[in-house]
Amino acid sequence: MYRLDEETEEDWWEVEALYDLCFAPGRTALSSYRLRDGVPTVAALCLTLRDGDGTLAAAIRYWPVRVGGRDALLLGPVAVHPTRQGEGLGGLLINESLAEARRLGWERVMLVGDAPYYSRFGFHKLSGVEMPPPTNPDRVLGLALKAGAWDGVTGIVTKAT
Ligand SMILES: CC(C)(COP(=O)(O)OP(=O)(O)OC[C@H]1O[C@@H](n2cnc3c(N)ncnc32)[C@H](O)[C@@H]1OP(=O)(O)O)[C@@H](O)C(=O)NCCC(=O)NCCS
Repeated sequence: MYRLDEETEEDWWEVEALYDLCFAPGRTALSSYRLRDGVPTVAALCLTLRDGDGTLAAAIRYWPVRVGGRDALLLGPVAVHPTRQGEGLGGLLINESLAEARRLGWERVMLVGDAPYYSRFGFHKLSGVEMPPPTNPDRVLGLALKAGAWDGVTGIVTKAT
């Protein structure tokens, strides 16, 4: 049995350790991290999944960004402990947080990731939305939480202030 909670301040370094375990070394050098520097997370959407004895099994975070003068959510990082992958936990975290984002009135979400995984949640390649280089444009994906929310929204992704 797993417990789903909003991430607390005390969880921060444990979640960082999980990300260090799950991603290649140097993850914080990625351009997406420059959009996060000094910007608070969207706390209501940052979730942890712990198993019965409290071990952290998975976590997801979101930051606000701006695209073409509009607000958007930047999904990620999301990671599932290597011993728990393939059980649906990543999908659970993504679906729960996206549902909450919709409830909170967010209109659009983007991420940098593998289309073959994220397409199952409705993400598709965003044309004309540019992440700071170096980012493979094929990995820049978006999902409209409100119909048409990405229509005509293009430009460089910048930090939310
Ligand atoms: C990617 C990740 C979050 C998925 O979480 P998970 O709990 O293992 O995934 P789920 O159980 O929800 O879904 C499993 C399915 O996703 C597929 N999948 C997982 N990672 C994938 C990827 N990178 N590309 C394509 N498919 C992928 C699996 O093959 C499986 O497919 P199936 O349903 O057809 O069997 C997790 O594997 C992870 O933490 N990976 C390392 C960190 C990472 O890459 N994070 C994402 C950054 S873009």
